[in-house]
Amino acid sequence: MRRTHTCGELRSADIGKKVCLQGWVRFSRDHGGVEFIDLADAYGITQLVFDPEDISSGADKKSISEALRNFTRESVVSADGVVRKRIEGTDDPKNRTGDVEVLITRAEVLNRSKAPPFELGDQKGSVLPGEETRMRYRYLDLRRTEMGEALRFRNRFISAAREYLEKNGFVDVETPMLAKSTPEGARDFIVPSRVHPGTFYALPQSPQLFKQMLMVGGLDRYYQVARCFRDEDSRADRQPEFTQLDMEMSFVTMKDIQDMIEGLMAHIWKKMYNVKLETPFRRISFDEAMSKYGSDKPDLRYGLPMIDITDIVKDAPYDIFQKVLSKGGIITGFNVRSEIAKDKIGRNEIDRLIEFVKKSGLGGMTWMRATKDSLDSNIVKYFTPDVLSKLKREMDVKEGDLLFLLAGPKGKVLETGGQLRKKLAQDLELTSPDKFLFAWLVDCPMFETDPASGKKGTFHHPFVLPTTPLDAENVGGASFDLILNGSELGSGSQRIHDPNVQREIFRMLGISEEKIETDFGFFLEALGYGAPPHGGIALGIDRVISILLNKETIRDVIAFPKNKKGQSLLDGSPQKVDDEKLEELQILSIAIDDIDIKDIE
Ligand code: AMO
Repeated sequence: MRRTHTCGELRSADIGKKVCLQGWVRFSRDHGGVEFIDLADAYGITQLVFDPEDISSGADKKSISEALRNFTRESVVSADGVVRKRIEGTDDPKNRTGDVEVLITRAEVLNRSKAPPFELGDQKGSVLPGEETRMRYRYLDLRRTEMGEALRFRNRFISAAREYLEKNGFVDVETPMLAKSTPEGARDFIVPSRVHPGTFYALPQSPQLFKQMLMVGGLDRYYQVARCFRDEDSRADRQPEFTQLDMEMSFVTMKDIQDMIEGLMAHIWKKMYNVKLETPFRRISFDEAMSKYGSDKPDLRYGLPMIDITDIVKDAPYDIFQKVLSKGGIITGFNVRSEIAKDKIGRNEIDRLIEFVKKSGLGGMTWMRATKDSLDSNIVKYFTPDVLSKLKREMDVKEGDLLFLLAGPKGKVLETGGQLRKKLAQDLELTSPDKFLFAWLVDCPMFETDPASGKKGTFHHPFVLPTTPLDAENVGGASFDLILNGSELGSGSQRIHDPNVQREIFRMLGISEEKIETDFGFFLEALGYGAPPHGGIALGIDRVISILLNKETIRDVIAFPKNKKGQSLLDGSPQKVDDEKLEELQILSIAIDDIDIKDIE
């Protein structure tokens, strides 16, 4: 018995055909002795019918009836039958096979399933269990239409990307999984070497150094659908193990790399949506993004920029502002236009927003509503008519607009303002889930200081080409991010190809000469053998797919993801390993209870 059709294939034109379908019993119901079965596979659902009273087919009713007793949910079955039109009024227009059904003439169970721990169909009223259960039984979760569709979408996206890149001369090269670590800002996963006891490989955080060395190797254009590993806390858009569309090109400027990505995305859009994607993408500088939107990955589908009003209100005798100003802080404001705020932000809502701002660490928020002639608020008395009119002009205030003012240390104000802007957009439903807006974040700094430790680090990574002299007050970097709907999809840069400049950057990061040699000596050496000017970018594939499919987390577009604690609930990893394996690696396993703290000290 071989299947003749998939469960998504039969149409009215097939009526009368003898067919064999194989798939999973998703749902079955008995209507006065007549049995209806929804048979599902990767391609769709077809209704099977068994009617013991119907003798038209001449089938062996007894054996069918016996087989059907084992047609339990999610069992794999095979059914022969004849395609017939569904009875008037029972057709299902939402289902592509919904005009027809298959009258069973032979049935067989191929593999009986245990009762599944959750409902896989999307019948009315079926609810999904918690994500942990879905992950524990991921193979069942993947059988759901939604999950199958997500993986197929992901595959189509990657195929379209490969098609474009190969047309443009990119060569797919695999880089090592077992290697020395590349610093991408996270911890490494390390792998012990058995042959060289006491030494370790690191799983790649990205193929950064290898793709640069491919350029030294003269490859000119490289790409890879690359698995990357970072030992960092999982979040909705982060996994310890994820996939990048990684690229590198020789003899290019930043614009060349950006043009290539715009072409790539336009090709993918055309293939997937048959839509012309608007290019070039908007460019926004790091400074503008931070000061207007309080984020280096602003969602530009809506406005709501922050407007700095420090200079306008600096002389107002309003205590809170004066205190902030005396400590070098700033005052910034949002104009929530009456068209979007009307009837949606009342007094209670404002109080909730003030609470939200307080939770983010600012003392509070001042607000004003614009009346026909003036601004209405309990603090306007502190402002002279001249200040009020300047404020109205600067913030382009019209009657009914609502102004929110935030005061405090610059960093905190911008960060909180960015969060408030996002919250307002959510509450006021300013974003549309099917609108996709790309932008480039440009003019990025080379370095940044970690606010917690005060340590100097890089904004992207240490291989970015500086765009200013290294002794400039604010050293710029030739790096850029690709932003989509408020998420960072990828980052790229022109790279340093001069080993002396590269060494100097390591020094500026406070890395000792010795550590430069041990960690990066091989790479500096490679740059010294005629490295061409080069640059590249990496896009987070899990991220782009989850955004395009409007998923809340990238876990929903990864076949076998880890949970929030980095565990695979399916296979139980990470796990202890047998002592013999550890011995072979010459790694000692000591239970904490057996250690005498004094010995360690
Ligand atoms: P970066 O570290 O910015 O750059 O990573 C590039 C993109 O990879 C995705 N990404 C992640 N996705 C899921 N889970 C994670 N833990 C995770 N970390 C990063 C993001 C991010 O924008 N080598 C450089 C690129 C280059 O300069 O060419 C790099 O890896 O979408």
